[in-house]
Amino acid sequence: MAETPSAIPLEKIPQHVAMIMDGNGRWALQRGLPRLSGHKAGTENLRRVIRSTVEFGVKYLTIYAFSTENWGRPPEEVKGLMLILQDVIDHELNELNREGVQLRHIGRLEGLEPRIQKKVLKAIELTKNNDRLILNVAFNYGGRDEIVCAIQKIINDGIPAVDVTDELVGKYLFTANVPDPDLIIRTSGELRVSNFLIWQAAYSEWYITPTFWPDFDKEEYRHALESFAQRDRRFGKVSSGELLESNA
Ligand code: IPE
Ligand code: IPE
Ligand code: MG
Repeated sequence: MAETPSAIPLEKIPQHVAMIMDGNGRWALQRGLPRLSGHKAGTENLRRVIRSTVEFGVKYLTIYAFSTENWGRPPEEVKGLMLILQDVIDHELNELNREGVQLRHIGRLEGLEPRIQKKVLKAIELTKNNDRLILNVAFNYGGRDEIVCAIQKIINDGIPAVDVTDELVGKYLFTANVPDPDLIIRTSGELRVSNFLIWQAAYSEWYITPTFWPDFDKEEYRHALESFAQRDRRFGKVSSGELLESNA
């Protein structure tokens, strides 16, 4: 059987991993540094995590980088986070492109400064034919906002109520054509969803670690994947093992 470098059987590797990259501020606080240093360290770590994702054979990675609620943070922090996004595009785009990463954005792009919108669109255009990893960047993203946006578009398109199905709604979300996340990882120990992929997470498995995002390394990522590989995903049914037993 083909095995990944993690020794997890390939068929047990999640197709789509989503990450709530949390704990940058506390990471900085612990070191007596400003919060923005935590965000910079978090960005450094993101580069490593993307590389590991490709190595583990995960096809889709969604990262929560800025929520619709994060606008409520102090203005200097918001400004710093906007600059970090631009910096990442300016300095990492070519390398990501070489590595075969296809960049996508989820969230309200029109809510960002025109200069940032332009950079994001350029990154999407440049990488659109890559297929080694699909990287969805959730920036100015909120799960409720995404659903509101979908409802508005459905109404604008004049779709009759009887045609509004689970599948149709999925097509109107920012994540249209992306499979639901199999595994969601949240760093820094918070036991909440924080408005992330609330529709798509209906049957996702969760892995929550107390580690702050800048310290979330490949070993721990592997551990999360190993944990996922052992889960029995029942999707509301009974496990396949039990069915076999009852038929015996
Ligand atoms: C996550 O780290 C990054 C963003 C939300 C942009 P935080 O900034 O939330 O870090 P904590 O939770 O305050 O430690
Ligand atoms: C979620 O983290 C948002 C991102 C990681 C971008 P937050 O730090 O904003 O979430 P809460 O406030 O702890 O719920
Ligand atoms: Mg946080």
